[in-house]
Amino acid sequence: MPGQLENKVAFVTGIARGQGRSHAIRLAEEGADIIGLDICRQVDTVFYPMPDAQDLEETKRLVEKAGGRIHAEIADVRDLDAMKAVYDAGVAELGDVDIAVANAGIMPIIDQGVERQAWHDAIDIMLTGVWHTLEVVTPRMIERGEGGSIVVTSSSAGQSSLGVNTFPGSAGYSAAKHGVVGIMRLYASRLAQHSIRVNTVHPTGVDTPMAHNDEFTRFAIANADSVKGFGNALPVDYIESIDISNAIVYLCADSGRYVTGTTLTVDAGYLVKP
Ligand SMILES: NC(=O)c1ccc[n+]([C@@H]2O[C@H](COP(=O)([O-])OP(=O)(O)OC[C@H]3O[C@@H](n4cnc5c(N)ncnc54)[C@H](O)[C@@H]3O)[C@@H](O)[C@H]2O)c1
Repeated sequence: MPGQLENKVAFVTGIARGQGRSHAIRLAEEGADIIGLDICRQVDTVFYPMPDAQDLEETKRLVEKAGGRIHAEIADVRDLDAMKAVYDAGVAELGDVDIAVANAGIMPIIDQGVERQAWHDAIDIMLTGVWHTLEVVTPRMIERGEGGSIVVTSSSAGQSSLGVNTFPGSAGYSAAKHGVVGIMRLYASRLAQHSIRVNTVHPTGVDTPMAHNDEFTRFAIANADSVKGFGNALPVDYIESIDISNAIVYLCADSGRYVTGTTLTVDAGYLVKP
């Protein structure tokens, strides 16, 4: 049976592991080729280990195993020119981009001795980095006239007061995840005339190294009050990356052809928790 995304090319940020890797594989399973990037190094304000170049190689291997072609490079979403260079090289190899997933992110919510910088890193990566993604992909999508689908990864923290404290990185996370909803609505409204759809997805805790790691477990035990409001309505602690990947396939395939400007919540009932 043909996939739902045959002959499509998807540009995905933050693909070395976690949700980004899962999205790249799932989109490839549906027939898409992948252009991707990841920073593949530690950001100083982040308390959990970040991926390296080997993780990116593993993503490449898994995408190819799923039947997709992939062009992936190390680049930072804070650097618009570097992103554009990866995009241009990917398009030259694989063709024009139909789908974009702005997924790259960090959770700098525990002090690493660079407290103020944590705010800036959160905003630079998850707000400016998302805008960069849109800036990279939309001019050619408009020029081509064949429409497109763009998905931005927000969070339950972009729909509620979810957060462990008012530490600068935590405030930055919350601000960025709310802020991308505004960017999404603006672009959805302006790009609809070109049949380009733009939506956000809002996961609750996902079982990736960002949220499920020893450092955070230790923090949660030592700061039980901070995590009191955590937990979902449905009886599950963490959802899986594939739950978000499937939501992205829904939004990007024909199934979502008239869905734009929406905030798609995939949160195991976090927002309706009694
Ligand atoms: N894990 C969760 O509980 C959860 C919940 C809601 C939303 N999110 C969001 O989902 C997205 C994916 O996170 P994840 O759970 O897969 O975490 P993850 O840490 O496993 O993956 C994030 C990826 O983004 C990359 N990245 C970070 N900064 C980058 C930069 N400046 N340039 C390029 N790549 C960069 C990382 O290297 C990493 O590979 C993030 O935007 C995150 O905020 C996560």
